[in-house]
Amino acid sequence: MDWGLRNRLSRILRPEDGRSVMLAADHGYFLGPTHRLEDPRQTLLPLLPFADALMVTRGVVRNCVDAGTQVPLVLRVSGGSTVVGADLANETIITAMHDAVRLNASAVAVSVFVGSQYEHQTLRNLARLVDRGTEVGIPVLAVTAVGKELEKRDARYLALCCRIAAEFGAHFVKTYFCDGFEEVVAGCPVPVVIAGGPKSGTERDALRTAFRAIREGAAGVDMGRNVWQSDHPVPMIRALRAIVHEGATDEDAFALFTRLKQPGHLQPV
Ligand code: 5RP
Repeated sequence: MDWGLRNRLSRILRPEDGRSVMLAADHGYFLGPTHRLEDPRQTLLPLLPFADALMVTRGVVRNCVDAGTQVPLVLRVSGGSTVVGADLANETIITAMHDAVRLNASAVAVSVFVGSQYEHQTLRNLARLVDRGTEVGIPVLAVTAVGKELEKRDARYLALCCRIAAEFGAHFVKTYFCDGFEEVVAGCPVPVVIAGGPKSGTERDALRTAFRAIREGAAGVDMGRNVWQSDHPVPMIRALRAIVHEGATDEDAFALFTRLKQPGHLQPV
């Protein structure tokens, strides 16, 4: 791995512990103005001081993120299908590597839809991106996407997806947490971070998921809706940081969340 690529990766996966709290906010590329991400600038501004990396599209970077930000960007570069279209898996590369360089991206992200009708196409997207990323020193995050088929998220399937993504050259992989997650991590030779998925439960549930993922070998989280759809997004991301970087249990983290969300609580950076 070339120095520049390793250096960019180390901006995301912190060198102190090899872990990361990534903030995912790329949902608009297929969901449109997602609940509580209608105005990305407003949603993201208070959260950025607590994020190790921000995952967004180039449209959001240019329009909603201050160019003076010190938060490393993970640029979403695959897309082309929407929630109202025929099939979410039908993705292509929508952003040139040259533009990722111009935006000073620390990594680029591409979804692969293993087992779908578009498996071959999306794996080719990954392969081409790894080739282009290697040329310019930008690491690639492969996202093991399932579209609307959330029931696919079991250890056997996700282990297969993560391993294939790593074999194709992805430098790190984003997947879902599942029972038997250790098996997913054990079969994947590159770091694995977890997505949060739809916000269906409580903050406590999401913190529990993050804690179990870290305990079972995840290198971090790349959560979106469970952070910014919370009524208390800043306490939530700070609680996640405690789990990922400070060895907090989910109980410790929930206690921190509960304390930080009290009205009038000062939230120093
Ligand atoms: C979509 C993505 C999202 O970034 C991902 O789903 C993470 O966000 P959330 O925690 O809301 O699921 O990669 O393909």
